[in-house]
Amino acid sequence: MTHTDTIPHSRPLVAELDLEAVVSALESGQISQGPAVDKFEKALAEYIGQNKAAATNSGTAALHLALLALDVKEKDEIIIPSFVCSAVLNAVNHTGATPVIADIELLTYNLSVESVKKTLTQKTKAIIVPHMFGCPAEMNKFLELDIPIIEDCAQAIGATFKGQKVGSLGLLSIFSFYTTKVMACGEGGMVLSDAEDLILKIKDLREYDNKDDYLVRYNYKMTDIQAALGLSQLSSLNKFVARRKEIAALYFEEFKDCDFSLPVWKQGKEHIYYRFVIRIKDDISGYLEKFQQKGIICRRPVYKPLHLYLNLPGFPQTTEAWQKAISIPLYPSLTEEEIDRIIEAVKDIF
Ligand SMILES: Cc1ncc(COP(=O)(O)O)c(C=O)c1O
Repeated sequence: MTHTDTIPHSRPLVAELDLEAVVSALESGQISQGPAVDKFEKALAEYIGQNKAAATNSGTAALHLALLALDVKEKDEIIIPSFVCSAVLNAVNHTGATPVIADIELLTYNLSVESVKKTLTQKTKAIIVPHMFGCPAEMNKFLELDIPIIEDCAQAIGATFKGQKVGSLGLLSIFSFYTTKVMACGEGGMVLSDAEDLILKIKDLREYDNKDDYLVRYNYKMTDIQAALGLSQLSSLNKFVARRKEIAALYFEEFKDCDFSLPVWKQGKEHIYYRFVIRIKDDISGYLEKFQQKGIICRRPVYKPLHLYLNLPGFPQTTEAWQKAISIPLYPSLTEEEIDRIIEAVKDIF
């Protein structure tokens, strides 16, 4: 039996205030990069706690420009985890540098600092540390390595590490406002940093027009339409995050006797549960279909690990996570009835 009222894996929460913000941006006549982008940059920098910001048209563009701001070039090495979407690998490859893939820790699905230490060389220019599925990475351990850190907050805006917002700790931090993300602008991204020179360089590279010198530059600009939506979504962000934590707390309670590993709770309230990832004892093939038959779309939390794309051996923790982890729908636009259906389906299947 298939349901007509399928519960998607993600769904943005677009409210009346978002509609009004977009309409007023359209009515202003300024629909490309303009004052709303400027305002959104300042508002996000203030919310996170970094001095300067540059908005982009995607998280990938934000990562690419963050790497270029650090002068990353061919022959440099950039460390990234295997258990992350291919956008991160693409951003490194856009610069011509060598991506060096490290394993994760299974408890949090975040980059393993032990694995990173084994891959450090004289050529290591930066480490990209994603806060996976909304769970803050152990930033103190990465900062101790004394290598420039780019915090990838695409999945974790609003999360904190030891009380400080993620995105405020690295030399640079990047965000994504893709439609499935915690704050949705359709597409969009941002780079934040306390280092003004880095942000100025990013702002120079993100657009090509009216320049006296020639450099390979990009068209990575955000529009004022996206920024207007970003500003109104940002005004709801604390509410979105609180609702995510509330639903997660309910799932923890309901699933406490189920025979699978729950997401980590050790960070307590610091995790924002962008994804609610459970890890079962078998391979998950077959289980996604079982959920689909109940009208619920669950997914592998990472479509395919990077070491598999690159045919690299090893990476036991990433392999285990990829084979056994399932992401269950959790987002603020879920209705109470949908939440009940998800809980019932999980209990029924496991
Ligand atoms: C951890 C991480 N970094 C970067 C990105 C890239 O963001 P975007 O899709 O906005 O290019 C994503 C996208 O899903 C992501 O999950």
